[in-house]
Amino acid sequence: MTAEPEGLVSAYASDAERDAEATVRPKRLAEFIAQHRVRDQLDLLLRGAMKRGAPPDHILLSGPPGLGKTTLANIVAAELGSGIRTTSGPVIERSGDLAAILTSLAEGDVLFIDEIHRIAKPAEELLYSAMEDFRVDVVVGKGPGATAIPLDVEPFTLVGATTRAGLLTGPMRDRFGFVAHLDFYAPAELEALLQRSARILGVPITDDGAAEVARRSRGTPRIANRLLRRVRDFAEVRADGVVTLEVAQAALRVYDVDDLGLDRLDRAVLTALVDSFRGGPVGLSTLAVAVGEQSDTVEEVCEPFLVRAGLLARTPRGRVATEAAWRHLGKPVPNGTFSGGVAPAPDLFSRDPDRP
Ligand SMILES: Nc1ncnc2c1ncn2[C@@H]1O[C@H](COP(=O)(O)OP(=O)(O)O)[C@@H](O)[C@H]1O
Ligand SMILES: [Mg+2]
Repeated sequence: MTAEPEGLVSAYASDAERDAEATVRPKRLAEFIAQHRVRDQLDLLLRGAMKRGAPPDHILLSGPPGLGKTTLANIVAAELGSGIRTTSGPVIERSGDLAAILTSLAEGDVLFIDEIHRIAKPAEELLYSAMEDFRVDVVVGKGPGATAIPLDVEPFTLVGATTRAGLLTGPMRDRFGFVAHLDFYAPAELEALLQRSARILGVPITDDGAAEVARRSRGTPRIANRLLRRVRDFAEVRADGVVTLEVAQAALRVYDVDDLGLDRLDRAVLTALVDSFRGGPVGLSTLAVAVGEQSDTVEEVCEPFLVRAGLLARTPRGRVATEAAWRHLGKPVPNGTFSGGVAPAPDLFSRDPDRP
């Protein structure tokens, strides 16, 4: 299991947060903001399947934490009008556990496996035959006396979610008929998302207030919703309840959210790169040790946004801080610093939101 770093802008959800999230979580495809291409493709996949009266192909959703994978998995089941069973890779330790889940599925159910890249090998192999032939061989006994008992599985749709599509084995990836990659959201998209959440929660928010929170949400819906709840607290306690630009700015200052929305770990990584390694290049594991985190966390949670924001580059020789990183930390840019070849954030986000 990945560690869940504390903090206001960590992309992971804490347990307490899951309840708060449920209120604003979109239930249907039409309510899901942005990601138009993925939405369109899913819509076709689901409608086609319903027309044929058969479960759709297995679906793989990949992308950094907080971008809507779990939400989409639940939407798939809702759109199909099917039941959903939810589990996750690290919990399935023995293939017997998985066999029990698979054989208890009803026809047309959705099985959602979160963090599917962390599933144990024997369970993964069992999953292959279930996905392909809707049957599993359950091995009973040990050694020469062991026998495999074939069991039927009702036709189902597997929805897998992963923060690391690259870690999936080839055979696993090949068994998904539809693969969607979720990308960070543009500020205008998060603004629309915040307006929707504010409406549901009954939070009065001005357009420039929403724009400010959106801009500092690290391209991530989970963080946008979380900052909205904190900014609401501030508005209610220290102002007249309305989230204006000034209120948003003052609140985000209190909560230590920086101008680009970077979190503690993001800033620690950049600071280590710049101060301890003179901007790099430095290897991932060395960098992770320097900030006291696991390499996985730095790579899955931190780096995608830093790269996207043009602050960090992955080169064949290691991680490098770009000019924009030095400037963001308020330090003079040394000669010969990697320019990154891209405009620094937030210009970077003025892109076609439908870009794959
Ligand atoms: N496209 C979207 N539109 C509206 N809300 C979204 C969208 N994507 C994510 N969210 C919100 O962000 C939160 C985190 O999404 P989630 O699906 O749990 O992310 P992931 O599983 O990728 O970590 C959810 O509570 C949901 O309300
Ligand atoms: Mg999730």
